Amino acid sequence: MFDFSWRTLHIYPLLAALATAHRPKNYLEIGSWKGDSIAAILDAYNGLDRVLVCDPFFGHCGGPKSPAFLEPKMRKHGFKGELQILHGLSQELLRPHLETSGEVFDLALIDGDHNYEPAWIDITTVVPRSRITLVHDLDHDTVWKAFRQYVQKHAHLDFMVTAEHQGTGVIFNPQAGTSFGKGTKAILHGAEPVVKNLPKREKKTETL
Ligand SMILES: C[S@@+](CC[C@H](N)C(=O)[O-])C[C@H]1O[C@@H](n2cnc3c(N)ncnc32)[C@H](O)[C@@H]1O
Repeated sequence: MFDFSWRTLHIYPLLAALATAHRPKNYLEIGSWKGDSIAAILDAYNGLDRVLVCDPFFGHCGGPKSPAFLEPKMRKHGFKGELQILHGLSQELLRPHLETSGEVFDLALIDGDHNYEPAWIDITTVVPRSRITLVHDLDHDTVWKAFRQYVQKHAHLDFMVTAEHQGTGVIFNPQAGTSFGKGTKAILHGAEPVVKNLPKREKKTETL
């Protein structure tokens, strides 16, 4: 189910709308920081049985330096399922974990390292194993390049990009289990101006 009105949503209501519409059972998140994106889902939808988080919790920008806060926060937002935390870099921990577990996710968010190589590794690791993947921060040329190259290479994917809050790419992967029906394909020359028009942020050396 593709809804183009979502193109103007901030990432939190976008996550909430996708969760409400598609009723995911499991959710994967790279880059959880203070847990607000997970809370946004839980506030709208309480059907998650399992959440897998990968984050080194470096404490950037006032974020927590340990993941201990996350489970209590999620419980407060109504989470009743199982939480697993991979405490470290997604580029190192996630692929071996998923290769062993063989898990496929209903919904995933990539919101971690903005450099090209890590973003590419995250996208190539997650998209084949998730029915819906959100890639945040397309206003970074590096993340946009990785996203664009990936969707160009994989013609079976449906995707759209949003223009709000640093830009988010949403990829629907009909080959990862369930088909969500015929989506409206956002062709690249439709997506490019959306990303090009995002307000540019100053280049930062840290990963947030
Ligand atoms: C912008 S914050 C995430 C915000 C969060 N999704 C939210 O909306 O509340 C980015 C997070 O990515 C994490 N991060 C940075 N590099 C990472 C990496 N290589 N692997 C996994 N997480 C990473 C940081 O520790 C930080 O917690």
